[in-house]
Amino acid sequence: AASSLQEVFEPSSSSVYEENADINWDELGFSLRPTDYMYIMKCSKDENFSQGELNRYGNIELSPSSGVLNYGQGLFEGLKAYRRVDGGILLFRPEENARRMKMGAERMCMPSPSINQFVNAVKETVVANKRWVPPPGKGSLYLRPLLIGSGPVLGLAPAPDYTFLIYASPVANYFKEGFAPLSLVIDDEFHRSTPGGTGHVKTISNYAPVLKPQSQAKNRGFSDVLYLDSSKKKYLEEVSSCNIFLVKGNSILTPATQGTILAGITRKSIIDLARDFGYQVEERQIPVEDLIDAEEVFCTGTAVVVAPVGSVTYQGKRFEYNTGAGTVSKKLYSTLTGIQTGLSEDKMGWTVEI
Ligand code: COI
Repeated sequence: AASSLQEVFEPSSSSVYEENADINWDELGFSLRPTDYMYIMKCSKDENFSQGELNRYGNIELSPSSGVLNYGQGLFEGLKAYRRVDGGILLFRPEENARRMKMGAERMCMPSPSINQFVNAVKETVVANKRWVPPPGKGSLYLRPLLIGSGPVLGLAPAPDYTFLIYASPVANYFKEGFAPLSLVIDDEFHRSTPGGTGHVKTISNYAPVLKPQSQAKNRGFSDVLYLDSSKKKYLEEVSSCNIFLVKGNSILTPATQGTILAGITRKSIIDLARDFGYQVEERQIPVEDLIDAEEVFCTGTAVVVAPVGSVTYQGKRFEYNTGAGTVSKKLYSTLTGIQTGLSEDKMGWTVEI
């Protein structure tokens, strides 16, 4: 709890936030709280996306033979809007999500919204749901853009029609551990990704396969699974929902994104911040043995932010790491969240004001 953002902020003045939704902001975790509006834009496979609109949040109608339901032709993104102390709202690097969706759409044979269309749609969705952006220190409004093959197909082929949709939910900590250190376990039976596959792309199909190893790990008392590469079972890849970093002295190591690892936007931002602090950041293959003499291990992700790892268990051996005050991960967490919430100077130009 020492690194809680709440401690950094002054108590919020109710006059600035009186438009807020009537919920107990202190009870937020990372579960769905439906908001008022969602954004929808449609096009066919031979068109470009042109015009979208806000709809009341609710169920959508899909053909039983839609590409996404039958063949998993779909992508998702995740980004957050933060409330500043003066009541304003900031987005964090939305063009990066737009670019990643465009790249993923190319891999999944789908048309994608342009960068501008994506960013404007995100802004419209936030404005329409602004009463759901939590007060400073209480969390953020998580935006979930989806791009799906919504038209019908039977034979394996790209769907004839596509839907781009954004919904929103106020969220706080991703892991039930809150700010407490995570305990990870390395699973060398299951893999998240294979060379030539889609591990580097945010396809919906990258996530259901980790449910089984993840639930097995949780049943054994671990927070989540750290996966190894599927060819040699030797190199660290990522955790089910986030990237991984190791700290050794002045060096910070993270697996290189060579097709099997998701190029996280938080990952990329942490690399830049760490270099700015003077750390030597190495993006490379990291043999599992590197865990033995690491001083710190931490995870990064949009949902996860920066989460300290207290232990990693591999083949029955448990390796423990420094967490808490004075750690590199804590410093990076404070710097990143300071920028995201408008408390610290954004010298990288990452935030977008709404
Ligand atoms: C995110 O961090 O935004 C993600 O998309 C990961 C997801 C599994 C929650």
